[in-house]
Formats: sequence, C-alpha cells, structure tokens
Amino acid sequence: MNKLLCCALVFLDISIKWTTQETFPPKYLHYDPETSRQLMCDKCPPGTSLKQHCTARRKTLCAPCPDHYYTDSWHTSDECLYCSPVCKELQYVKQECNRTHNRVCQCEEGRYLELEFCLKHKSCPSGFGVLHAGTPERNTVCESCPDGFFSNETSSKAPCRKHTNCSALGLLLTHKGNATHDNVCSGNGEPTHKCGIDMTLCEEAFFRFAVPTKLTPNWLSVLVDNLPGTKVNTESIDRIKRRHSSREQTFQLLKLWKHQNKDQDMVKKIIQDIELCEKSVQRHIGHMNLTFEQLLRLMESLPGKKVMTEDIEKTMKTCKSSDQILKLLSLWRIKNDDQDTRKGLMHALKHLKTYHFPKTVTQSLKKTIRFLHSFTMYRLYQKLFLEMIGNQVQSLKISCL
Ligand SMILES: *[C@@H]1O[C@H](CO)[C@@H](O)[C@H](O)[C@H]1NC(C)=O
Ligand SMILES: *[C@@H]1O[C@H](CO)[C@@H](O)[C@H](O)[C@H]1NC(C)=O
Ligand SMILES: *[C@@H]1O[C@H](CO)[C@@H](O)[C@H](O)[C@H]1NC(C)=O
Ligand SMILES: *[C@@H]1O[C@H](CO)[C@@H](O)[C@H](O)[C@H]1NC(C)=O
Ligand SMILES: *[C@@H]1O[C@H](CO)[C@@H](O)[C@H](O)[C@H]1NC(C)=O
Repeated sequence: MNKLLCCALVFLDISIKWTTQETFPPKYLHYDPETSRQLMCDKCPPGTSLKQHCTARRKTLCAPCPDHYYTDSWHTSDECLYCSPVCKELQYVKQECNRTHNRVCQCEEGRYLELEFCLKHKSCPSGFGVLHAGTPERNTVCESCPDGFFSNETSSKAPCRKHTNCSALGLLLTHKGNATHDNVCSGNGEPTHKCGIDMTLCEEAFFRFAVPTKLTPNWLSVLVDNLPGTKVNTESIDRIKRRHSSREQTFQLLKLWKHQNKDQDMVKKIIQDIELCEKSVQRHIGHMNLTFEQLLRLMESLPGKKVMTEDIEKTMKTCKSSDQILKLLSLWRIKNDDQDTRKGLMHALKHLKTYHFPKTVTQSLKKTIRFLHSFTMYRLYQKLFLEMIGNQVQSLKISCL
C-alpha cells in the first residue's frame, strides 16, 4: 500500500517535471506542407531573424540582424527590430545598440523620465526628508520627519536626521527640537564647569591615575568595555575621539561615565569627593583677582607650549575672576597633550619668584598644589575603582600605580 502510493507520487512528480520543463532551444509548432505534418521547429536566437522554417530534414534557418537592428529574445519573426534612434535631450546613451540589445537611453544624473521628458528630481523641503532617493526612472519620495527626527535643509538627498541626544553626550537639552530644528544642547550637565572649563583640576587629579603614561593601543575601548554600569555609547565615543587628543580621551570618557552613572552608590561617592575637592581649590585660589600682566606671567612660567595672549584676554572677558586661573590652566593642559597641571604649576612657582609675584598669590598656589597632591595620593577609591573595572585592565598594568 505504502509502496504503491510512493510509486504514484514519484510518477506524478516526473510527469509534472516533463510538462513544465522548458526545452532548449525553444521550439514552435510549424505545419510542414511537404509532409503535411506538424513539426517542432527551433526558434531563432537573439541577434538573428528567421529565414526559413524547419522541414523534416533540415533545422530552422536564422540570419544575423543587419547593423542598427536587433532581436533580444528567442523568437519566430522574420524581421529584426530597428534600434531606438539617438537619445533625447538631457539623456545619455547608457548602452549602445548591438544585434542583441536595443539602445538604452537614460536621464542625466539628478533627473528622471516622466512621459517623454527628463525632469529634475524634486527636493524635500525642511521638515521633510528623503525616504527614497530619485533614480533615472523615479522621482524622489519625501517623508514628513517623524517624532525625534528633523531636516533643516531643502535637499533631494538628505534623509530626516535623528535629534542630537544631549544627555547621551553629557550635555543639557536647552531647546527641544522639532521637525525642522535639531535639539540644542548646551554647556555641561554638571555645575562645576563655569566659563567652559573642560575639566577641573580635581577631576584631572582624580582620574589621572587611569591615563596610561605610555599610550596603549585601544585603551579607550578596553576602558569602555570594562567600566561598570551604564555603558557610554559608541556615538559619544566617536565624538570624544574626534574632538580630543589621545590622553584627553581617557579623561573625557571617565567624565562622561561618571555623569551617566551618577546614581550608582560608588559613583555618588566619587562625585561627592570631587565636589569637596573643588570647594577646597576654590578656597585656595578662588579669591585671587590677578591682573592681565600677572596672568600672562603665570602662563609664561608654565613649561611647554604657551597659552596665547588672545586666550588670556578672552578668558578675562568670559570668566569670573575666580575662574580665570582655572580656565587658563585647563587651556595649558590641553595644549600640552595633557601634561599634569599640578607638576606644571610646581615648575611655574620656581620661576615666579623672579617676577616679584604677590606673596599671597604664590602661597595660595603652593597650598593648592599640596592639596591636589594629597587628593591625587588618596588612592582608596582608585583601588576600588580598579577592582570594579576588573582584572583585564589590571593586567594591562596602569603604570602610574
Ligand atoms: C551587446 O550589448 C550588451 C549590453 O551592452 C552586451 O552585454 C553584449 O555582450 C553585447 N553583444 C555583443 C555581441 O557585443
Ligand atoms: C538618549 O541617550 C540616553 C542614554 O544613552 C538614553 O537612555 C535615551 O533613551 C536616549 N534618548 C533618546 C530620545 O534616544
Ligand atoms: C521649530 O522650532 C523652531 C526653533 O525652536 C521654531 O522657530 C519653529 O517655529 C518650530 N516649528 C514648528 C512647526 O513648531
Ligand atoms: C542643520 O542642523 C545641523 C545640526 O544641528 C547644523 O549643524 C547645521 O548648521 C544646520 N543647517 C542649517 C542650514 O541650519
Ligand atoms: C579685581 O581687580 C580689579 C582691578 O584690580 C577690580 O576692578 C575688580 O573689581 C576686582 N574684582 C573682584 C571680583 O575683586
């Protein structure tokens, strides 16, 4: 029973194949007057036309198409087709005509064929983005930018773009975007960054231990992979890499990580300590009200590349007097590929004597240095921090420790 059914199925299967299978070359039925029989003749291949039908004794005769004529399929016609004449205005020849292919004309870049004309692809106005870019055959398709997306240009290429995620970049959202405007982010999400101080002395002191003294390849990726809590996303990492020199990148990453994980107990403690440190630094140098000449002298006495006079002038305009030194020191650090600011200041103090700097100022600076040193040396958290990061990082041997 089973066997029978099986055989029947096999038979069915074979018969289906037989009837649907294309024969090659393709054939057509032709009544042969000589023998009064229906014959199966071969069709003619592309590039040829039919000269004589087949007979009982002879196959179909086909002849090549003449110049400027073509056939592009197996057929039974005794004539080839005339190639389309030269292309229209604003078109170019995409494929020349030959025996097997008609001439193919296409609209120039940026245009599509509508009826007989090559029209320009339309641009999507702001508030709309390109959903499907135009092709030589089809016009652009625009879409109204959905929630969370915007387009601020009239363009036939630009799709709607995502609103910048301010919080993911550690910034504050100051102006919510809509379909035509991006979100506007500003400043830093943290209160410690006045007059655009990129990183405070205390943050630097706290995180300096995590910056390898010798540049380690992929150091940033290792840190990103191993930092606990919310991961810093790749968008932010790319931004950090674009904007900051290699050493600075570690600081920026840790700062962002700190910001994004500020609700974790461990990080809360770190933030508190850094805040205490800031207050202390403010106590030591916040009351200083240095003149332009004094700031200039101080900057000149720092080693390495100098902060430019224009930057000092600008800093005096944009920063409160209590922040001016801090801002200038941060500019010096960035300019000098993240030299340790504390060490730079120690160097500067030796030279300041010759400038007859007010004694109160030099003493305050000395106190600040000493304080930062003790803060830097305060390694309890750093040890805990390293344990959090895990063995992988430790095995890379942070040479500061
Ligand atoms: C004819 O043109 C087509 C398309 O350009 C090409 O693929 C084909 O090889 C050409 N045939 C001959 C015989 O040149
Ligand atoms: C912005 O980024 C944060 C952190 O990466 C994420 O939690 C949030 O969902 C993002 N917001 C939007 C609108 O994508
Ligand atoms: C989108 O935001 C901009 C700037 O905030 C504003 O000028 C514009 O009117 C807004 N557009 C709509 C449709 O709300
Ligand atoms: C469009 O938005 C981007 C991102 O916010 C901005 O960089 C660019 O300048 C804007 N272009 C115009 C024409 O407003
Ligand atoms: C700093 O000193 C200048 C002149 O020496 C004075 O005009 C200014 O008010 C002082 N600022 C503060 C905050 O003490």
